[in-house]
Amino acid sequence: MKSVEFFERQYQQQVAKGEFALNLFEEAVLPYLSGGVLDLGCGLGNLAIAAARKGCAVTALDGSLTAVDRVNEAANRLGLPLAAYQIDLSSFDIGDDYDNIVSIGLLMFFPQKTAHAMLADIVRHTKPGGMAAINVLIEGTTFVGALESGKHYLFGKHELADAFKGWEILLSRHDELPAPENTLKKFHTIVARKPV
Ligand SMILES: C[S@@+](CC[C@H](N)C(=O)[O-])C[C@H]1O[C@@H](n2cnc3c(N)ncnc32)[C@H](O)[C@@H]1O
Repeated sequence: MKSVEFFERQYQQQVAKGEFALNLFEEAVLPYLSGGVLDLGCGLGNLAIAAARKGCAVTALDGSLTAVDRVNEAANRLGLPLAAYQIDLSSFDIGDDYDNIVSIGLLMFFPQKTAHAMLADIVRHTKPGGMAAINVLIEGTTFVGALESGKHYLFGKHELADAFKGWEILLSRHDELPAPENTLKKFHTIVARKPV
């Protein structure tokens, strides 16, 4: 998994330097979380840890062993209701239902069919009255970075909104961020509540 190898290297450096901070998408999603949380592609777990600190029971999944070890170390040290597991999410079925399912910056690393299947799984496994929070790269992104040629998927600008049709949209924002070598990252972030 090229995407996991890319982040594994990055996380080793961040852990060594003690660089742990919520990114702007995690900051935006955190206030909406309460109850049980599944964090798909948790990375260094800054959101998972912050959610657990405010009382959420969090299951955090990622392919990076450095990330998972860091999350579990912090959870144990701080006595938080949080457990992280290393797993390949490109072939993963969610299984249980959750109050909140979060996936920030993950789905675009999968081929289109897999990305759509996981999005549908998230829709299915969010409890009625619960919330899904998704952030993806969208069309117009020119940054390549950890994206594997021919195996990634840039979402359409309105595709997440279409996936959550009939849900209450609590947050929807498009962001454009400059990336290395004069490239661009275009994101869509959505937080939506499932009808009861
Ligand atoms: C852009 S980072 C986002 C991390 C975190 N959600 C955040 O906002 O900082 C993408 C994450 O997805 C994970 N990832 C990518 N492909 C994966 C796969 N096939 N299985 C498990 N994790 C994967 C990477 O290890 C990385 O932690």
